[in-house]
Amino acid sequence: MEVQLTAPNGKTWSQPLGLFINNEFVKSSNEQKFASINPTTEEEICSVFAATTDDVDSAVAAARKAFKDASWKSLSGTERGALMLKLADLVTQNAEILATIECLDNGKPYSVALTENVPEVANVLRYYAGYADKNFGQVIDVGPAKFAYTVKEPLGVCGQIIPWNYPLDMAAWKLGPALCCGNTVVLKLAEQTPLSMLYVAKLVKEAGFPPGVVNIINGHGREAGAALVQHPHVDKVAFTGSTATGKEIMKMASATMKNITLETGGKSPLVVFDDADVGLAATWSHIGIMSNQGQICTATSRLLVQEDVYDKFVESFKAKVQELSVVGDPFEESTFQGPQVTKAQYERVLGYIQSGKEEGATVMLGGEPAPQKGKGFFVAPTVFTNVKPSMKIFREEIFGPCVAIVSFKTEEEAIELANNTTYGLGAALFTRDLVRAHRVAREIEAGMVWINSSNDSDYRIPFGGVKQSGIGRELGEAGLAAYSNVKSIHVSMTA
Ligand code: NAI
Ligand code: MG
Repeated sequence: MEVQLTAPNGKTWSQPLGLFINNEFVKSSNEQKFASINPTTEEEICSVFAATTDDVDSAVAAARKAFKDASWKSLSGTERGALMLKLADLVTQNAEILATIECLDNGKPYSVALTENVPEVANVLRYYAGYADKNFGQVIDVGPAKFAYTVKEPLGVCGQIIPWNYPLDMAAWKLGPALCCGNTVVLKLAEQTPLSMLYVAKLVKEAGFPPGVVNIINGHGREAGAALVQHPHVDKVAFTGSTATGKEIMKMASATMKNITLETGGKSPLVVFDDADVGLAATWSHIGIMSNQGQICTATSRLLVQEDVYDKFVESFKAKVQELSVVGDPFEESTFQGPQVTKAQYERVLGYIQSGKEEGATVMLGGEPAPQKGKGFFVAPTVFTNVKPSMKIFREEIFGPCVAIVSFKTEEEAIELANNTTYGLGAALFTRDLVRAHRVAREIEAGMVWINSSNDSDYRIPFGGVKQSGIGRELGEAGLAAYSNVKSIHVSMTA
């Protein structure tokens, strides 16, 4: 059920391959597996067991039993928080192994996994551990005839489905609030990046969580994912991924009227006004689209630049990309950008680049594959100018290191362009005019607006979208609302 792996950086670990159900790793019922590929070398790393519908049944049954069991149900919030803190400590202690696995399986730079993604897991767990004994109901004073109060109750079994772009972070964002509120969980990992969270599963057991509280499975979306969403004993579904899959999930979840949280796609604008610090705007524009190989739901993939500073901004941005976006082996210290996560994503991104060329946009930088030693799903950081709002590269989520730059004349036009999308996840704007900054922030249709930065999200601040970018919020105090029911209790005082 485990295999010994060694990464190019010399780290060695025992990699679990099974489905983590009831604190044990088990095979899938028909022993089906799928391979995980290293996107840098295009070679298979190992194969993991893939859950069948029957396995999803077992995982849900384990979670349901654990939800009712005194070993979990009777814990105080303080005790739940202590388990979460223990898990956070174990994650921190295993940081180098987890970062190594993430680099190998996902292709993100090791240094980023070590300094950003692994700490994010510990931070989110600690943040929600702190809430576990501070998240309670109210007494509502309606006069002497009635004593009324509310209690916050866990929802029950939560089915959580995560994508491959941030395997560790996305899992933590979902586990943190769910466990804080006393739920139990079946977490389905993404097929493309199954390995890091299977290692965390070992730590869940080591931290002392009762069996069945946290179940972690791999499986295909249409099989295991769909079975989880449709399962009659699952009370809630939380999903991060594509808008198309999010819509399917909403439909499937409607049969049993499940509570849902969806965090889906984006085509987030970044607006540069003519009074902005252009150098600062260029720096954040680079971070906002080129980080994580451009595979970020909130990536600011449309740069809208006021005409008076257009040339200056474009030059400055181009210089930043050329200087900072070092493409290479993700285990190399100097690498900023590794490979796209899979061949499918690589081809999808190249397909969008092709469509941009065909529709008449100008490729100012990149626009082609960037293999390393003849291998890997690498795409050169790509900047398009002369982009029209009707083009696919302006309208659709590319999810790669590709950005479209468009100029505008007036604030009204900027707002119209920014909102000219079916999405509404993030948005960024650069100006030194305080009043304009807040005025435009309110006009942009998005769940999050960054003023004079981009994508510096924070686990203490709510995260989520409007329009077709999702339903509900994760992170921050707002993230708790998705994981409990408010029960109202009326006590008649006239008896
Ligand atoms: P996807 O949305 O299909 O997959 C995400 C997760 O959903 C995976 O765990 C998958 O197994 C599961 N899933 C797929 N079909 C399902 C179904 N019918 N029922 C239940 N679960 C299901 O995304 P995919 O195909 O990996 O990527 C395609 C595009 O989606 C990307 O190019 C990108 O544009 C977007 N995307 C957005 C993400 C975000 O953070 N908002 C993350 C990943 C992808
Ligand atoms: Mg992989």
